This record gives sequence, C-alpha cells and structure tokens, in this order.
Amino acid sequence: MKKDQAQRLRELYQHFKTVTEEKTTKVVSVTSGKGGVGKSNFALNFALGLSEEGQKVVLIDLDIGMANLEILLGMNPKHHLMEMVYERKTIWDVMEKGPAGLELISGGSSFNEILDLSDQDTDYLFSELSKLQGYADLILFDTGAGLSKESQRCHLAADEIILVTTPEPTAMTDAYSVIKILHHQDVNLSIRLVVNRVANSKDGAAVANRIRMVTEKFLGKELEILGFIPNDSFVVQSVLEQTPFLLNYPKSQAAKWIRDIVSIYLHVDGKNEKNTGIKGFIQRISHLVKK
Ligand SMILES: Nc1ncnc2c1ncn2[C@@H]1O[C@H](COP(=O)(O)OP(=O)(O)O)[C@@H](O)[C@H]1O
Ligand SMILES: [Mg+2]
Repeated sequence: MKKDQAQRLRELYQHFKTVTEEKTTKVVSVTSGKGGVGKSNFALNFALGLSEEGQKVVLIDLDIGMANLEILLGMNPKHHLMEMVYERKTIWDVMEKGPAGLELISGGSSFNEILDLSDQDTDYLFSELSKLQGYADLILFDTGAGLSKESQRCHLAADEIILVTTPEPTAMTDAYSVIKILHHQDVNLSIRLVVNRVANSKDGAAVANRIRMVTEKFLGKELEILGFIPNDSFVVQSVLEQTPFLLNYPKSQAAKWIRDIVSIYLHVDGKNEKNTGIKGFIQRISHLVKK
C-alpha cells in the first residue's frame, strides 16, 4: 500500500471514529396510563416521521406478548430481543429493516423475563444494546400500558419519556398516575405529553392543560406538551391494512399532525432531557436492574 493511501485510510478511520463517538444515540421511552390510547400507532408513525427527516431510528417493541408493532407494520420478525440473549445472537441478527430506513426489534413474548436474567445474560443484553451507540440517532421503546417493574426501569433510565393519552377521563387520570409514580422516583424526569384522538387543536390544548395544571399543582412538576393527533378514520383504516398511516395516507390529518410533532421534536429539546444517550441509559438501567 502506498504511504499516502495508508495515511488517507488512517485519517478516514479517525474521522469515522470521531463521528460515531460524538453522535449521541438518544433513548426515548413511550408510555401511557391506559391501554388502547394509540401508543403503538404513535410510536411507529413518529419513528417513521423522524426517519423521513433523515434520523436513524431503532424502534424496540417492549409491549410484553402483544407484538403490536410488527402487526401494525405487517411484518413477521424472525428473531427477538430475548432470543438474542438466550442464543447469544448479536443485535444486528435481531434487527429487521422496516420502511423508510426504520429498524425494528421485536421484544418477543418474554421481556418480563428480563428480571430473571442472570448477571451474565443481563450484561450480554446491555453490551449488545450498547452497539447501537453511534449507529442510531434515536432508540425508541414502545412499552406496555401502565407501569410494570420492567417498563418503569426503562422510563427512569431513558433520556426522556413521551406519555400518550386521549381526552377520555379514564385515560387522563391514568396518565396523571403514571406521572405521579415516576415523579416520586425521580423528580428530574423529562416527560412530554401527546394527546391522541382529539376533536381539534382546541380540544387537545384543553386536555393537555388540565393534566399540566394538576401536575404543577400537586407535584410541582412542569409538564411539557409535545403535540396532538386528531381522531382520524384513516388511522383505523391503516391498522386494518397493516400499513402505517404516515405512509399509507400521507395526506391524512393524522399524518400531517404527526409531522408537526416530529418537527417540534427535532427543534425543541425537552427541558430535563438527560442527553447521555445509550451509554447513560445502560449505566442507569444496569444500576436499577441489579439493585
Ligand atoms: N388518532 C386516532 N384516530 C382514530 N383511531 C385511533 C387513533 N389512534 C388510535 N386509534 C385506534 O385505537 C386502536 C389502538 O391503538 P394502539 O396504537 O394499538 O394503542 P395502544 O398501543 O395504546 O394500546 C387502533 O387500532 C385504532 O383503531
Ligand atoms: Mg401498544
């Protein structure tokens, strides 16, 4: 190899190293109080919206046993996260390519087993997840409704949490319960609210303000609003057709509002966002799991 060629390769390698080391792979965890509020549809279409904006997103389905995201995508993943752990597969083996450059990892039906993993298995899981540092801009976890021990750890360790609710009184009350429980464990969490299935933006703002006000009044916590999604029959239609509405009905109101949320998300950082990326996430979650 010629000297200048070797030098160029070295420079290229250095450049690549700095690029991958500097890129923060943000970890976002999506939750809701009540089930059926549209959390998976939001997570999926939000992830796709970010992908369309050039973000590399890895979407991880942690809704135990529900396999929601693969059904919404009409996909049938060959492997899942727990299989990676048990069979010592790599993270790349269990990642499936979805539309628009989105990557999906299915949690399988046994994410709750994470609590029973041996220390070696836990370390293996986290070492594989840490490989996503520099590869992805964003790791998005879709978790089950409510707060299981596992999902709570995921929320507490994430850089930020997105909480989805609808205007239904029960969904709002349950959303507030989630805020309260998480806030009692860490007062500095960044929680942003999305109100789904609103009649119009005024309706969305009224719902969001009510939750914001009780959160401020009773917990002294500032709740940020990320946006609203209208009640839209194209969402229902897309679920039936197993193709995300952002792709299937790009001109629908729901798609338009998701794009607004994506735009806000990319331009406005959450106030308490941890911003320590996948490395910080793994440090925090390891600590919580082994506690
Ligand atoms: N914006 C919306 N407009 C109309 N229907 C919606 C909307 N969001 C969700 N839905 C309906 O709610 C159902 C549940 O959504 P899903 O994302 O699976 O909820 P979750 O993950 O919270 O359980 C969908 O199958 C769809 O029929
Ligand atoms: Mg779901």
